[in-house]
Amino acid sequence: MKKNILEAPFVKEMCEATANMYRLGWDERNGGNISYLLETEEVGEYLDLDKVIRTIPTGFDASALIGKIFIVTGTGKYFKNVEKDPEYNLGIVRIAKDGTTAELLWGWSDGGKFTSEFPAHMMSHISRLSVDPDHRIVMHSHPTYTIAMNAVCPIDEKDFTHRLWQSNTEAVVVFPDGVGVLPCMVCGTNEIGIATAEKMKSFRLVVWTNHGIYGTGKNMDEAFGLIETVEKTAQIYMLALGHTVNVIPDKIIKELAALWNLTPLEGILE
Ligand code: 13P
Ligand code: ZN
Repeated sequence: MKKNILEAPFVKEMCEATANMYRLGWDERNGGNISYLLETEEVGEYLDLDKVIRTIPTGFDASALIGKIFIVTGTGKYFKNVEKDPEYNLGIVRIAKDGTTAELLWGWSDGGKFTSEFPAHMMSHISRLSVDPDHRIVMHSHPTYTIAMNAVCPIDEKDFTHRLWQSNTEAVVVFPDGVGVLPCMVCGTNEIGIATAEKMKSFRLVVWTNHGIYGTGKNMDEAFGLIETVEKTAQIYMLALGHTVNVIPDKIIKELAALWNLTPLEGILE
């Protein structure tokens, strides 16, 4: 007898995260997407792992993830609706033995499929797992102030990171490893996936210019907390823009990092 999947902690976490992101105004309409690497054994408590509902081609090589199971938001699905109908808005997929097919185990009850940003998600999982075996979450969002700040700053990740660290004492403590920045690119493509995954080898956060941000982590709180802290800091930056008198001096940023035994990304602080 399998347990009720709607009671699974990972389904509840997806519902909670999408609802919070929607209410924070980060994810309008179908904006944003999340993928969460699950433990096969845990999924097996809820689903018959031999029962594949249908297969969906990925359009890229995900061989490094063969056999891995993810819960993912669906393309075109609204974050505001996930909580009230998880089976319509979410899907659980396993990367098949060929590395280029996803096996649907549950969800997308309307015949839907994974987010159009599946390449960026899966390729980012590969990068993050290569540097952190405990990595689990890739979260993409459209937070307003982050996009606004990126629009008024040069496309230079060290400069962008420095401006964030200078605006909020929490920033260097939460993301001492900095924020990667990609130029404006066509989203939903393998190309933006490859570029994002390259950044993800050293960053947990990547901004897509004129579009949004990616956050990653060992759990939902880490990925969410990273984006939340960038967005809060970007809000401060934008509210003060043109009036700023005080920024956090580099000496204090260094001392904040030292207090928490953190090493700030090199090449930013004087
Ligand atoms: P999806 O609806 O395909 O997830 O796309 C939303 C989005 O944010 C594209 O970048
Ligand atoms: Zn997007």
